[in-house]
This record gives sequence, structure tokens and C-alpha cells, in this order.
Amino acid sequence: MSDTEFLTQAVAGRWDIYGPIHKGLRLAHGDMAARLGRADFTRGQDELLADLAGHLALGAKHLAHEETHIHAALEARAPGATADLNAQHDHHRARFDSLAIAICAVQHAAPADQPMLGRVLYLAFTGFVAEDLEHMRQEETIIWPQLCALFTDQELAGMEMAIIGSLAPEEVIAFMRLMLPAMNPAERTGLLSGMKADAPAEAYAAVIELAARPTLPANDFAELERQGLVA
Ligand SMILES: [Fe+2]
Repeated sequence: MSDTEFLTQAVAGRWDIYGPIHKGLRLAHGDMAARLGRADFTRGQDELLADLAGHLALGAKHLAHEETHIHAALEARAPGATADLNAQHDHHRARFDSLAIAICAVQHAAPADQPMLGRVLYLAFTGFVAEDLEHMRQEETIIWPQLCALFTDQELAGMEMAIIGSLAPEEVIAFMRLMLPAMNPAERTGLLSGMKADAPAEAYAAVIELAARPTLPANDFAELERQGLVA
């Protein structure tokens, strides 16, 4: 069955537990790959390397969220269903360790060696991105239909709310900064409308000021204003 058939037959209109965060990760992977590609490693790149380390830390948290709140529930109803996923996550964690070493290598190299080590880091990161793009595609085309068959939308929403509820305020902002600019307008309006209704006013205002305003193109932010979604 093709990806298109999976998505139209099995999951149409169902709770999209992977879509928004995976769109955010794909956008941020691409942005980071572009920044690494055009960086001048003959000059210090402290800010870029710190941003990359922060991006990889969010990726590691995302794996843990899926394992704690999605894999455990799926395994309980379909024993063995998460074996491949968990193996891919372990592989990702090994990549994160290698990337941390590659970042350190650039930071501590002699200036003459930094361009070569920057190229090594660029290739290591983009190689990881290639693997993660395929991993996320499998989650959305193979695992999401399984989840939809085994769980109600209310249960899937409950898993997502449990993930959000486990985040510190600054983590909420960090993940919203990934997700908001990656979503289409209807998805963004849906997410923010739900948050505005349910979250404390200060927390919602922080999402608007610290995540939406700095990351959205002016016309997308203006659309939120027109919809009454800017606190
Ligand atoms: Fe995953």
C-alpha cells in the first residue's frame, strides 16, 4: 500500500499525534543544515554550534516523549509493535553522541583545522537528518495507522496532552518555536485556539510573544491577529 493510501484510508480526520511536531523537526533540521552549509568555519561559530547542540537536545527529548507516552501504550495493546521504532531511536541516540563529539572537535580545533572539521560536522548532521526524515515518515505512515486502529482520538489526544504536561515552561516555548512556523494556517489556528482556551493566560501570552511573534512571517502573524489569537 502506498503512503497516500495509508494516509487517506486509515487516518483521515484522526488525531494527528505525529504531524505537527514532525513538521517542526523537519523545518528545523533544514534550517540547521542550511546554516551549517553556509557557515564560515574560518571564523568562530559559537552561536551556531550552541544552536545545533540545543536543536539536538530537543530531538533527544522528542524521542523520550514518544517512548514514554506513545510506545509504552502501543506496546501494551500490540506487544512487539515498537521493536523497530525503539531500535531506530537507539540508533539516533548513538548519532547524537557522535554529533556531540563532532561539535566538540570543531570548538577545540586549531583555527587551521576548523574548516575541515566544520565540513565533517555538516556531513554528519545531514546524514543524521536523512535517517530521521525516513524514521519520521515510517512513524506517520506505518505507526500512526496502527495507533488509530488501537486507540480512540480521545486516547491519542490524552497521550499528546501528557507529553505537553510533562514539559517545563521553557520547553513548551522551545517546541512551539519549532512547530508554529512549520504548520499550515489551519493547523496553527487549531493548535493556538486550543491553547488559548485551556492554558493559563500568562502561559498563552508567552507562546505568542516568545514563539509565534519571533518565528512567523509577518503575514502569518497578522492572520493570527485577525483571528483574535494574539493575546
Ligand atoms: Fe520517533
